[in-house]
Amino acid sequence: MGNLLRQYWMPFIKSEDLDLDGEPKRVKLLGEDLIAFRDTDGRVGLMAHNCPHRGASLFFGRNEEAGLRCVYHGWKFNVDGTCVDMPNEPAESDFKHKVRANAYLTHEAGGAIWAYMGDRDHPAPFPDFEVLSLPADHLYPPLLMLGESNWVQSLEGDLDSSHIDWLHSKVDPNSTRVGTHHYDRQPRFHVVPTDYGAFYSAARTRDADSGKMWHRITQFILPFYTMIAADQPKQVHVRAWVPLDDCHNLEWHFMGRLDRPVTEEEGAYARDPYGAWHGWAQQTSDPLTRYATAANIRNDFLLDRGLQKDLFVGVPFLVNLQDRVATEPMGPIYERWNEHLGTTDVMCIYMRRRLIDAARRFQTEGVLPANAERAELDRVRPASMLLDPGDDWIAATEHARSVDPHADLAAIPLIGELIASTKNA
Ligand code: FES
Ligand SMILES: [Fe+2]
Repeated sequence: MGNLLRQYWMPFIKSEDLDLDGEPKRVKLLGEDLIAFRDTDGRVGLMAHNCPHRGASLFFGRNEEAGLRCVYHGWKFNVDGTCVDMPNEPAESDFKHKVRANAYLTHEAGGAIWAYMGDRDHPAPFPDFEVLSLPADHLYPPLLMLGESNWVQSLEGDLDSSHIDWLHSKVDPNSTRVGTHHYDRQPRFHVVPTDYGAFYSAARTRDADSGKMWHRITQFILPFYTMIAADQPKQVHVRAWVPLDDCHNLEWHFMGRLDRPVTEEEGAYARDPYGAWHGWAQQTSDPLTRYATAANIRNDFLLDRGLQKDLFVGVPFLVNLQDRVATEPMGPIYERWNEHLGTTDVMCIYMRRRLIDAARRFQTEGVLPANAERAELDRVRPASMLLDPGDDWIAATEHARSVDPHADLAAIPLIGELIASTKNA
């Protein structure tokens, strides 16, 4: 699976977290211990943390004059891993031309720095998500959190619309707390495989009177991207579940506006989305503390049993905090043979099979999923629509699922509308 993941670009740190000639930062990605730094020219290097000489950690390196200099014997490497200085060897030696640091390609987009860790002659095309093509001031700062479980286990929440009626619900529909309250809590799932992954509809009866079916259509884009059913007509997004190692992932939420620049206030919220629930944890140089929330598995997410009178789970609905209450305490890699999967698990089942098939096919035949070669396949949208019960939802949502810069998203708010429909019900 790691070899498959290496064939895609992966976001690993916020752009603003690396300063020009600033401190090198430790990075964990696909189980590798790496060092990231931004050089004098603004370029970003990402390389193995062990110096290729005798293994000193480049974390302690000096970021100076367009390169990172190891503090043990002074060898210096530029962002592409070339050894540009070997001051302890004789001046006439050409040894420095034979040594390279193991560096990966990097690219900046959407307020993040991305890495390509593959070894193909031609690196993968950069993903072509609609949100990443918006003007920079239309983008929110990327919204992040550290997840402390296997990346697939975390990702599954986005492919399981059923849980929004429980984990994200409020007990009293009239409560002012943020939470869902739906008329129909038995969604019917329908999965449609595509060349980039799949999309699915979770269909619910909208209310007691209208007879409409509410289709929430979510995209899964290989290898770890999701676009949750559209909630706001002017907002586009993509979420990424990036494996740091087998038991930790970075959950990225790239979001932007079609209609206008993001305001200061909106940007401030995205920088501190957990402020209402104890905020960020203390960060150290350990990459497994970066973007970590104060409420986490070691303190039971600061669960408030009193709050369970209002909210089903007793932790507020802030990004994926409630989801982590469900997916992390099951264990960082849950033993799947203990599961009993029902009809609302079909998208999770499909995604698991698709990932395993893609990894096997790459291993045995060297063939990659189509979107590892053709980034334009990533240009899709999620949707949320009301249709009549007999409608062909796939045909009816075809335009809504494609990127049209002149059209809003087909969206239905997850929360506000739900309060209205509850009153109807
Ligand atoms: S170990 Fe880095 S220069 Fe010697
Ligand atoms: Fe969720």
